[in-house]
Amino acid sequence: MNYDEIFPKIISHAKEYGFVFPSSEIYDGLGAVYDYGPLGTELKKNIMTAWWKAMTQMHENIVGLDSAILMHPTVWKASGHVDAFNDPLIDNKGSNKRFRADVLIEDQIAKYEAKSLKDTEKKAAKEGWEPGSVDYNGFLTNNRNAKKAQEVQARFEAALNSGDLSKLRDIIVEEEIADPDTGSKEWSDVKQFNLMFKTQVGATAEGAMDIYLRPETAQGIFVNYLNVQKTTRQKLPFGIAQIGKAFRNEIVARQFIFRMREFEQMEMQYFIKPGTQMEWFQYWKEARINFHKKLGLSPDKLQFHVHEKLAHYADAAEDIQFKFPFGFKELEGIHSRTDFDLSRHQEFSGKKITYFDPETQESFVPYVLETSVGLDRTFLAHMSNAYLEEEVTTAKGEKDTRIVMKFHPLLAPYKAAVFPIVKKDGLPEIAREIIDDLKFDFPVIYDEKDSVGKRYRRHDAIGTPFCITVDFETKDDHCVTVRDRDTMEQVRIPISEVKAFVAKRLNWRDVL
Ligand code: GAP
Repeated sequence: MNYDEIFPKIISHAKEYGFVFPSSEIYDGLGAVYDYGPLGTELKKNIMTAWWKAMTQMHENIVGLDSAILMHPTVWKASGHVDAFNDPLIDNKGSNKRFRADVLIEDQIAKYEAKSLKDTEKKAAKEGWEPGSVDYNGFLTNNRNAKKAQEVQARFEAALNSGDLSKLRDIIVEEEIADPDTGSKEWSDVKQFNLMFKTQVGATAEGAMDIYLRPETAQGIFVNYLNVQKTTRQKLPFGIAQIGKAFRNEIVARQFIFRMREFEQMEMQYFIKPGTQMEWFQYWKEARINFHKKLGLSPDKLQFHVHEKLAHYADAAEDIQFKFPFGFKELEGIHSRTDFDLSRHQEFSGKKITYFDPETQESFVPYVLETSVGLDRTFLAHMSNAYLEEEVTTAKGEKDTRIVMKFHPLLAPYKAAVFPIVKKDGLPEIAREIIDDLKFDFPVIYDEKDSVGKRYRRHDAIGTPFCITVDFETKDDHCVTVRDRDTMEQVRIPISEVKAFVAKRLNWRDVL
């Protein structure tokens, strides 16, 4: 299925089954803000648990933190966010709408790339080239549209590196980029716009202080570095992990939960000796991509992307990109942040933030290796990765299509659904007894409505790995039928073995 078709389907599936709802929907929603429904809450919680275990439970030297969203405003001066956390914006004078200049250019490059791919596929079909062959790849990188994409990309990078915003406007004008809705090509100058949400603490206007909703969780970790190091007596290298909300006044509010104004981050700052950063950079790159693979994201949908332009504080940075329905995009950032953040907080707070190395008897400001992944983006990656429309043959031999969410069982909202085949003759009671036994170990659900076939479809659509059916024979043989979501195979097992059967597929050892 083509990407343009699949993305709207995933969004409506997410809504229909209670994974994600637009925020304040009865008031027509609020742009780029979303609520997680009953199933979404479970999926999100399972992703968080996986990350938390992978970080803190699997590493003796990584500890957790839950710092406040509101922080002293000087934190954001020190971090550079007040002065440099900006997006380049451009207004369209014809439509009076505001756009991100960099996104308009990136979209233009993506258009050329899509055309280049289409041309290549057409040519390959004519010439009989296999995708990935020398001829195919040669044409893919050298056709007219590919060359155009490379040229605009090079100009774009040069404009970003020069810091000259007028060069971004030049590209937009010369490429004849138009407002996608109105077609207007009348553009203003490009201006920087700060992404932080501002609010106030204090009751009176005179006593009030301007503060910000945190745009990243990382600074809560940096300002607690000494508290954590002292109370846990950790030695370098050690890490602090945190999951929490972050807020950015994103202008381009598209792509569902990919880019939100209120979102959640899972960040880990790893404090290390200066000079060891490249070693740890490699370690965390491997560890983090493996985490995503083991939790079921398809390896061919994951890749690294090297940052062309490093942030002023970084000496190395790569993204893990996932192939979302709209293309390869950033899922996680791995950044070598040097001693920038701790040194700046030391400077702005006037408090000494150093580490005393008992081996060398020296004090220094540690370097930091950061891994930062969006919880909502990971959620969207799993929704996109799991969604499948599959041709199946029904019990009556008819062709049908089922929608199945092939989540890793550890991520699935419910681990099992228990059905009595009919709502009478004592079968519901047996099903309830099974539920009452399983519910202490896993989230499970009882379902007696509609035919068993329809119930299977319903649970495929929400990704329940096992459906357990109680039938008339159960009363005599104390066995149930367990149907596997992915293979649709059914096995008959004693009720006494159901818990162990399900638990076997929920082994954290397989993913951590
Ligand atoms: N502390 C580093 C930091 O915040 P970032 O690349 O700006 O780095 C890290 O953000 C991750 O947070 C991204 O890789 C992405 O997964 C997620 N993220 C960033 N902005 C987001 C947004 N507006 N909506 C959803 N997720 C976002």
